[in-house]
Amino acid sequence: GLLASLPLCAQRSQVLRPIHRLLSCPRTVAAEIKREEQSSGSVETGDGAVSSVCSVAATHRGRGKGEETGIAGERVACGHGRGAFGNRGLYAVVEFCQKESVTSLQNGTRTPSMGTEAAIPFRSRVFNLKTKNPSNPTSEQSRVQCSIHAPPSSKKLLELLCYAESIDDQLNTLLKELQLTEENTKLRYLTCSLIEDIAAAYFLDCTVRPFGSSVNSFGKLGCDLDMFLDLDEIGKFSANKTSGNFLMEFQVKNVPSERIATQKILSVIGECLDHFGPGCVGVQKILNARCPLVRFSHQASGFQCDLTTNNRIALKSSELLYIYGALDSRVRALVFSIRCWARAHSLTSSIPGSWITNFSLTMMVIFFLQRRSPPILPTLDSLKTLADAEDKCVIEGHNCTFVRDLNKIKPSGNTETLELLLKEFFEYFGNFAFNKNSINIRQGREQNKPESSPLHIQNPFETSLNISKNVSQSQLQKFVDLARESAWILNQEDKDRPSSSRSQPWGLAALLMPSVVNSASLAKRVRKKPASERIKSLLESIKSSSPENATSTNGK
Ligand code: CTP
Ligand code: MG
Repeated sequence: GLLASLPLCAQRSQVLRPIHRLLSCPRTVAAEIKREEQSSGSVETGDGAVSSVCSVAATHRGRGKGEETGIAGERVACGHGRGAFGNRGLYAVVEFCQKESVTSLQNGTRTPSMGTEAAIPFRSRVFNLKTKNPSNPTSEQSRVQCSIHAPPSSKKLLELLCYAESIDDQLNTLLKELQLTEENTKLRYLTCSLIEDIAAAYFLDCTVRPFGSSVNSFGKLGCDLDMFLDLDEIGKFSANKTSGNFLMEFQVKNVPSERIATQKILSVIGECLDHFGPGCVGVQKILNARCPLVRFSHQASGFQCDLTTNNRIALKSSELLYIYGALDSRVRALVFSIRCWARAHSLTSSIPGSWITNFSLTMMVIFFLQRRSPPILPTLDSLKTLADAEDKCVIEGHNCTFVRDLNKIKPSGNTETLELLLKEFFEYFGNFAFNKNSINIRQGREQNKPESSPLHIQNPFETSLNISKNVSQSQLQKFVDLARESAWILNQEDKDRPSSSRSQPWGLAALLMPSVVNSASLAKRVRKKPASERIKSLLESIKSSSPENATSTNGK
């Protein structure tokens, strides 16, 4: 069921194909492994069930692929829950070979009685497993292999970049090290399905789907998990009798607008997550944003989650970005490097505000690649022309049609290296007429800005919207200055690349360092600004870093 509903149906998808096995499988549970003395969770397994989990996990290791169960390879992924609220123990996702094992596990569970604390008996697929003897781990436990979900440290990353053969090699290394692993992607789908279990308490046939960088192929390990609560399936089951004298339909509660309906739905789901969702902490209901959302931290997976509903267009833009990422191997390498570069220089931030976002940066890279000669990426209009009847998609009056069969898109004849593209990207945007032009991937050429925001990037489907409306003039200026300086650094390297002294950060590694040039020139500019300007921009960033405000401007 879930695979059919994935937004991504491109044929070249390798990573996403097996996901449905894990998710559509009722045998999957998320288990939290805890030492006896640390335990404080909501559901406790009985003794018999504990050994069943351990031995099932161990048995599973001995089996190969292609079993009757259809579950591939080893499926025990461990990780530390590292939400915003610190470490909460070691978690593992356990897949069972036999359905009965899960039944026996569930039969053996009970609600914990916890002295002074009371537990809310809310049904969940997250269990606590308690070891009997913490100082002496059993042989089965020590045989469990963990897959790591954390990106390498900056030090390790810089080291890897310095040892690379070329700048092209550096960009590809960065991509390889930071991209989401298959396990991490699966964990994102699994987390969505756990939230779906909770939302289903209110909306029986709802679906929760990931979107944004979790699925658009531009996600870095550790990126947030954007979730879409899809209530459309519910409508499909509504009785609708059209013949005879009476029209029959389910009775529903009416509210004055779609927006109010969205707010009400998210409000109850937010309450439900907060009060009953095991491991859902730090729940914030941000309902007055342009796109209302519920933000929370999911402890078992360690993901920071943003749950929205009624923004189906964002699913389409995630799918579009996925298509662009799959069209040419240079796209993702370049986007990852630009995203990292921006993060390294604090052009982007995990706190919403007047900063440029990763989504905007990705659009800028796509636009730049459309502008090469010959183009590396096609325009959105040409993807629309290639679409057939099955691709047709109109959402709330917006035409979101584009071709989804990658084989119908002619590969680019452009053979430019990543090194050249990186340098040209910085030169292009270091000299872009942001004051009068808008970035538009639909037509693949600059357009006159329709409004006066410092940075204007047209939303590909809701064309009257600017996806970077939140960006302030000072943040845009910082981007331009850094782009120019980075182009300069790469040009210098071209002239006298010291291939012998590569122990110093070079190429991409040099761009990710806080360079002397950058800090000196930026410091000078900051000093030159009149005090009133500095206070104004400070106020601006404080104002926009409050979640309510900031999210209302990012226009998700
Ligand atoms: N989105 C949008 N318009 C915006 C902001 C976001 O349509 N102004 C959609 C995009 O599809 C985007 C998704 O919402 O991919 C999620 O937004 P966000 O989490 O801000 O960006 P990501 O692409 O997920 O990148 P990040 O890794 O920074 O989370
Ligand atoms: Mg995101």
